[in-house]
Amino acid sequence: MDVIITTEQENPGRIAADAIARLVHRNPEAVLGLATGSSPLSIYADLADRVAAGTLSLARVRGFMLDEYVGLPADHPQRYRNVIDRDLVACTDLDPTLVHGPDGLAEDIPAACAAYEDAIDDAGGVDLQILGIGVDGHIGFNEPGSSLGSRTRIKTLTRQTRQDNARFFDGDVDAVPQHCLTQGIATIMAARRIVLVATGQAKAEAVHHLVEGSISAMWPATVLQMHPAVTVILDSASASRLQ
Ligand code: F6R
Repeated sequence: MDVIITTEQENPGRIAADAIARLVHRNPEAVLGLATGSSPLSIYADLADRVAAGTLSLARVRGFMLDEYVGLPADHPQRYRNVIDRDLVACTDLDPTLVHGPDGLAEDIPAACAAYEDAIDDAGGVDLQILGIGVDGHIGFNEPGSSLGSRTRIKTLTRQTRQDNARFFDGDVDAVPQHCLTQGIATIMAARRIVLVATGQAKAEAVHHLVEGSISAMWPATVLQMHPAVTVILDSASASRLQ
């Protein structure tokens, strides 16, 4: 695991975007794993700048989202598919038909999850997975206690995660869905490269476990210690509990 602690002058998103740009220059049809939430926003903004400047094209890149809320209406602004369309697809030349997400409105959820796993396999697997980390150590929405061998499935969000995400729902925790579909931990671990961005003091304990803790399903991100190609990009606040 490579750990990069950025200075105030450095932008964690730029460092992650450098890795993505190098990959896409090598393979214009690369498969990216796409996180939502606040952590990847600086990456997506940096990618958008590069596309606008003409130094990068994502036109043939394929994308697979990490997770999706269950039951949010198709036009809900916080449905993750809409978030990715707004924060990444609309700001770059990504082809929306090449971006996929778990179907949080599926009638047959197990079948939709299995189909999602098949779609990732059919694309040849994820070349580079972008991750954030929850304050409780979740990756994707694999909450504490998730099987380290899990695949895409439905999960119940913890109260903590729903409180953390209430900021996207006008502060109303009850408006945050209780369930989500998420790539499993084994799905995430199958990515060939993983870049995780964490910023802010609230992430310091989770980052401490991620980098220095024992591998445990109670801190799901710790499994990344077993992955051969993980880069963790931190600011000084999120790194503040590292030895
Ligand atoms: C989002 C996701 C989550 C977030 C995590 C951190 O697709 O899978 O694991 O990365 O909850 O969220 P932020 O970045 O909003 O602090």
